[in-house]
Amino acid sequence: MSKTVTDNTLQAIISHAKEYGFVFPSSEIYDGLSAVYDYGPYGAQLKKNIRDDWWKSMTQMNENIVGIDAAIFMHPTTWKASGHVDSFSDPLIDNKDSKKRYRVDHLIEAHADKLMEEAAKDNDGGATLRDRAKQLIADMEVLLANDDFAGLGTLIQTNKIQCSVSGTSNWTEIRQFNLMFSTELGSVAEDANTIYLRPETAQGIFVNFLNVQKTARMKIPFGIAQTGKAFRNEIVARQFIFRMREFEQMEMQFFVKPGTQKEWYEHWKNERMNWHLSLGIAANKYRFHDHIKLAHYADAALDIEYEFPFGFKEVEGIHSRTDYDLTRHQEFSKKKLQYFDTEINQHYVPYVIETSIGLDRMFLLILSNSYEEETIQKEDGTTDSRVVLHLPTKLAPLKLAVLPLTKKDGLPELAKALMDECKPSFHCFYEEKDAIGKRYRRQDAIGTPFCVTIDHQTKEDNTVTIRYRDSMQQERIPMSEVKALILKHIA
Ligand code: GAP
Repeated sequence: MSKTVTDNTLQAIISHAKEYGFVFPSSEIYDGLSAVYDYGPYGAQLKKNIRDDWWKSMTQMNENIVGIDAAIFMHPTTWKASGHVDSFSDPLIDNKDSKKRYRVDHLIEAHADKLMEEAAKDNDGGATLRDRAKQLIADMEVLLANDDFAGLGTLIQTNKIQCSVSGTSNWTEIRQFNLMFSTELGSVAEDANTIYLRPETAQGIFVNFLNVQKTARMKIPFGIAQTGKAFRNEIVARQFIFRMREFEQMEMQFFVKPGTQKEWYEHWKNERMNWHLSLGIAANKYRFHDHIKLAHYADAALDIEYEFPFGFKEVEGIHSRTDYDLTRHQEFSKKKLQYFDTEINQHYVPYVIETSIGLDRMFLLILSNSYEEETIQKEDGTTDSRVVLHLPTKLAPLKLAVLPLTKKDGLPELAKALMDECKPSFHCFYEEKDAIGKRYRRQDAIGTPFCVTIDHQTKEDNTVTIRYRDSMQQERIPMSEVKALILKHIA
């Protein structure tokens, strides 16, 4: 049997995720809510498994990292201190004819993509078009880094960038739009305070720096990890769960002695890439993207990018944030956030290396990397096809499907005994309906790595057929070895 593989497409992944209970549009019966999604039975479990693996890699595998779970709502001054009230915004532009609103960088990037597409079709002028596209992106990056909105406006006009709806270049001025969602705390209007839904989990770590350091008796260098929801009023909803308005982050702030930040930055850059590779994802699907223009508080920053079906995009950020955050919280709270280093007998505000990854984005990465449409050439010359998710075994929502060949002759009883043995150790699924081939295909589609079939021979010699998802190979093994074999693969 040989296999050929057809191309992944984001659309196929979105449909598959919905059909098989991974991701649904939020409140779909009311036509959904833009850039908000719900996770179904298999999606919720896959997401939990990714989160658990990250949590383990941080808080269990590193003796000097502890976890916290801070509230989503924080004192409003937090966001003044962090800089989010003043500068957590995107530049936007509206087309006066269609009234469609664009994020400036998305509008320019889409134009550059169009130039690249034209270049691919044009044998003579291709190189010129490609150069123009590259120059456009380079100019945009410089102007964005300098908050030069007039320059960005000119760039859009001189490149004759048009609205995809009206087809015109009749643009408004560029304006800044704050991405934080706000709400009121308190029921009496006069007393109500505006508070924000956190746009990142990191600030919950910074404001708890001393609480954690003292209660967990941490010595620098040490880290604080947290996973949880974050909210951003993204103007342009794009690419499924890649850019959402409500999403989850997995962040770790690593507190170090000033002057040692460069070596810790390198350390976490490598550690984080190793985590990605530990999931069995090919190294050539990843790349580092160093930030050229740094935020005023950072002395180094990079993105870990993955090749999604729509190109290389950021999945995780590594930032060397100096002592900016703790110093700002000291200023605004008037409370000291310093560490006493007994080795040098000195107080100082620690420097911070941050690793920040979007859980939903990582989920999309895992789905994109796993999704495959296969055409199978059978030995008798006929072909068959299947859609399979090659999920890493430790992340798969279900590890084992137990399938009695028939509903009678005592086979379901044997199958249920195997279920009872394995259930406490990992997620199992029992099914006796439909032909065995059809049951295998359903498990392939949700990424279950192992199926075990109980047949009449099982009654005689206590052996079962185990079938491997990726190779579709089958072998006969004693039923008593199933649990240990699967546990070995999960580990
Ligand atoms: N504390 C640093 C911070 O929040 P960020 O680059 O804004 O940095 C970190 O976000 C990660 O969070 C990103 O690399 C991405 O994976 C994820 N993320 C950010 N905005 C997102 C959104 N709107 N939807 C889904 N994930 C998002």
